[in-house]
Amino acid sequence: MWHILDRGREPLRKKLADLAGSSNEEIAINRNTTEALATVTWGLSLNKGDEIVMTKQDYPHMIQAWKQKEMRDGIKIKWINLNLPIDNDEVVISEFINATTSKTKVWHITHMINWTGQILPVAKLCAEARKRNIISIVDGAHTFAHLDFSIPDINPDYFGTSLHKWLCAPFGSGMLYVKKENIAGLWPLFPNDKPTDGNIRKFESLGTRSFATEQAIAQSVDFHHAIGSRRKQERLQYLKKYWCEAVSSNPRVKIHVSLKPEYSCALGTFSIEGMKTTDISSKLFSDYQIHTVGINWENISAVRVTPHIYTTTEDLDRFIDAVLKIAKAG
Ligand SMILES: Cc1ncc(COP(=O)(O)O)c(C=O)c1O
Repeated sequence: MWHILDRGREPLRKKLADLAGSSNEEIAINRNTTEALATVTWGLSLNKGDEIVMTKQDYPHMIQAWKQKEMRDGIKIKWINLNLPIDNDEVVISEFINATTSKTKVWHITHMINWTGQILPVAKLCAEARKRNIISIVDGAHTFAHLDFSIPDINPDYFGTSLHKWLCAPFGSGMLYVKKENIAGLWPLFPNDKPTDGNIRKFESLGTRSFATEQAIAQSVDFHHAIGSRRKQERLQYLKKYWCEAVSSNPRVKIHVSLKPEYSCALGTFSIEGMKTTDISSKLFSDYQIHTVGINWENISAVRVTPHIYTTTEDLDRFIDAVLKIAKAG
């Protein structure tokens, strides 16, 4: 395994780096976003009293990681509560700036919020963070190989993603980007003999892992290129807009994402006036065999719908018909 299969990692690193638009010396291959971002949360040297800014709409694993760091190390989380959907960059940027003090060391930024599909203006947020000497961590779980961008376009200090989501790689495949100049200063989550080295490979001391899963990532990258990033994004935008516009013909149906392409892509969310979101998703599944997710999280109550590139408009017509029937019946 270590002598033969392990050699496959370097060509894979290069493939992922090409897709990310970064140097291969900034890409570590791991198992998921949770592991990628836990590497950053636990690898940064922060002191008691240091503050980090994040939103109540971030992903639970990241919230839990920072809360545990707050309990253990005495850092302080400054919370933002976003009122989604938002289709104005300045609103998001000023929320982050207003939560920032002289003690702020980190902005934790979710590229696409999983609860609704809202896209945040990550490039502008990372630029604002850098101006203030604040570390930017981007949770890109839902955006890599979904939106057409390169990591340098965003210019974060750290970016974590899961390749089993939109890249369609096997479960348990992920990636961590660390800006070159930050590598030496970030402690690895799984220690090795050179924890303060500037070599990105220090973040891959996972021990024995599934090489089959890891090596299959390369096939997923080839598949992704065969379609093309831009075309994939456009297809996903098209599908989301198709169903959102159609179900909006009933005035009781409310859409919880902006339909402007800068603010949402494949993921879309809706609610029906007077109905519980979990009742809507249960009915869609039991009566129509359509899987959606009923969401109740913080200030969000909506049903999330996630077509992929292989979803057809015929599939969506069935879904639209079901939603309109449910909305009519109430
Ligand atoms: C925004 C966001 N961050 C992180 C994660 C965690 O991803 P994983 O379970 O692959 O670590 C998810 C999963 O859905 C997510 O939506």
